[in-house]
Amino acid sequence: MIVYLNGAYVDRAHATIPVDDRGFLFGDGVYEVTRAVGGQLFEAERHLRRLARGLEGLRIDLPADLDAARLIAISERLLEHNGLVHGDATVYLQITRGVAERRHHFPPSGTPPTVLLGASRLAVPDDVRRTGAAAVTTADLRWLRCDLKTVNLLPNVLAKQQAVEAGAFEAILIRDTVVTEGASSNVFAVVDGVLRTHPATPLILAGITREVVLELAADFVPVALEPIPLAVLFRASEVMITATTADVMPVVTLDGQPVGDGRPGAVARRLHTALRARMARAPAGASAAARPS
Ligand code: PDD
Repeated sequence: MIVYLNGAYVDRAHATIPVDDRGFLFGDGVYEVTRAVGGQLFEAERHLRRLARGLEGLRIDLPADLDAARLIAISERLLEHNGLVHGDATVYLQITRGVAERRHHFPPSGTPPTVLLGASRLAVPDDVRRTGAAAVTTADLRWLRCDLKTVNLLPNVLAKQQAVEAGAFEAILIRDTVVTEGASSNVFAVVDGVLRTHPATPLILAGITREVVLELAADFVPVALEPIPLAVLFRASEVMITATTADVMPVVTLDGQPVGDGRPGAVARRLHTALRARMARAPAGASAAARPS
């Protein structure tokens, strides 16, 4: 496998980062995970807009030549070179504030950011989807800028580990008695026939899958952007999570208790089918729009 690191395509095994990288020392950086289907990126522009907002939030400047078109071209080259032009894959992108002597404040201006992109095969969890996933609820211990997709993921890591140790697929995070999102996903629930999810505030990462799912849902179910109190989550007829790596995943148990009738629900199934159809259609336009002619 080859990756892109700071301007060069290198063997993954030889792609190394200095120990003084601020991503390593401080978690001082942002990342994106973009889906690719059949070698084509899905919703690349939305991911790159979110990346740009994150870089702005952290005040990291990218070199002018690393614009959206260039990042898309690098991603596509990685998919091709790594034999990922068929089936499902992800492109991982990470940008840190670069390499500098360890001090908390920013390094001198002009310190080049570290830029890494890599592509991997995605094992879509369709086996879990067939029966539905288990989830556990746990406290949301994160900071107040969860809208920035930073590599500071320790609370997410601890929450996900708690889920895994409980034999669950995802940990659903609770802040002040309401559901914010999952450890690495957004959370939706069908309550009294309305599909609800947390509004896009700094308390959640506004997922790209979430955005697309909201558009798809508008065709067939009433939607409300409202936080879901924990007690309401437990009486929802359906709960589902969304993420680039999971698509629409029905949640059928919460802390061991069944959701609705304990089987994947109709809204989740329909949204998943619509999302996959949208991904299958994506090649014609999605990344081509931003590619230099
Ligand atoms: N994470 N919320 C959090 C905290 C996430 O980490 C993710 C995705 C999402 C869903 O976002 P999207 O639909 O854009 O993938 C929501 C990625 C997949 C990861 O960290 O691997």
